[in-house]
Amino acid sequence: MDFVIKGNLCYCESPARLITVPDGYLVSLDGRVDGAYARLPDQYAKLPLVDVGEHLVLPGLNDLHVHAPQFAYRGLGMDLELIEWLNTRAFPEESQYSDLKYAQRAYDLFVDAMRRSATTRLACFATLHVPATLLLMEKLEAAGLRGFVGKVSMDRNSPDILCERSAQAAAQDVETWLVESRRRFTHIQPILTPRFIPSCTDALMASLGDLMRRYEVPLHSHLSENRTEIRWVEQLRPDAASYADAYDRHGMLTPRTIMAHVVYPEVDEIDLLRERGVMVAHCPASNMNIRSGIAPVRRLLKAGVKVGLGTDVAGGQTIDMMRAVTDAVQVSKLYWRLIDQKQAALTIAEALYLATKGGGAFFGKVGSFERGYETDVIIVDDTALPHPQPMTVAERVERALYLSGECKIVGKYVAGKQVL
Ligand code: GUN
Ligand code: FE
Repeated sequence: MDFVIKGNLCYCESPARLITVPDGYLVSLDGRVDGAYARLPDQYAKLPLVDVGEHLVLPGLNDLHVHAPQFAYRGLGMDLELIEWLNTRAFPEESQYSDLKYAQRAYDLFVDAMRRSATTRLACFATLHVPATLLLMEKLEAAGLRGFVGKVSMDRNSPDILCERSAQAAAQDVETWLVESRRRFTHIQPILTPRFIPSCTDALMASLGDLMRRYEVPLHSHLSENRTEIRWVEQLRPDAASYADAYDRHGMLTPRTIMAHVVYPEVDEIDLLRERGVMVAHCPASNMNIRSGIAPVRRLLKAGVKVGLGTDVAGGQTIDMMRAVTDAVQVSKLYWRLIDQKQAALTIAEALYLATKGGGAFFGKVGSFERGYETDVIIVDDTALPHPQPMTVAERVERALYLSGECKIVGKYVAGKQVL
């Protein structure tokens, strides 16, 4: 369906270039943006017009790292650090997804919240259970969202209730799930998801690396999140030169790889991530909550590493990606103040870029209102933030991001299809 949205448009062409078109027209043809205009060119005059009045019209936000089965307990257990938190919160909760009835209820809640959120595309961990993972994919696809879902692989250092029987059985399960999900779904695609190095034997990693190449499938994992975890990886993988190298040895660092966190990268790891074209998912809320630290995002960006944002629910307490944008700005200020004054804080435009066009690159031409980009749009109602003074669209967007809890997402389109 072709259409035009009339409203206050705002998008980022580059990290330094935030573009606004007050009372502008966003033209969508065949699921893609044909242009953002201050005045509607005559050739589009006959298209259906969706007039959203004073509302803000932004590209949809891309959540590059979120755990669907952790949504049900978000906001709990924030007094723990990563490994303890996994053992006492994440693993027991995820083990419940062997029960398809439980998965049905919990994933309904997750998908409904996602549909109503600012997120249009996501890269999402499920659990190791194949039936529940397929159920999640089915629900996300039915909701009109797009992106990647991973059946989690984990065959060591995990409780019996949440551990594969063997590396071989685990790899077989992944292959069955890959084939089945590709047969059944179009817009929600499978992504290989070894949980992190501590939960995957070398044998399982070797099989997953092999599947990655044979099926040309992307990969999603965690890298260098917490100091205790990093020391553990050094002990588990004495063969590897670094945490990143432990993945690279299995051919897992590619332009179709997302690595979440990267809070404590060594210089050679940053080089490796750039050379391989890996996308880093920066998850500031999670890094605060479970006290992992502050990722050196400015250093990554200066080095030419690709960066997007993630909520990492339930390490992060909310799936609100508008909040992730301002969290990224805020933690970057603390990094500058407390850790390294050579690394300038992020601006709001830079952080919005990371959540839109930056992370959107993982999904194709996604995250901008430039011609040819897929029409991913959110309509933001900020009327709960009245102001006596005049305010530019850019100022209203900044406030809506900081005060997202007081704003409403009143419409959403993914690849030109209305989903809200
Ligand atoms: N590392 C391994 N598993 C997890 C997880 O579920 N959440 C986070 N934040 N880090 C992890
Ligand atoms: Fe995570």
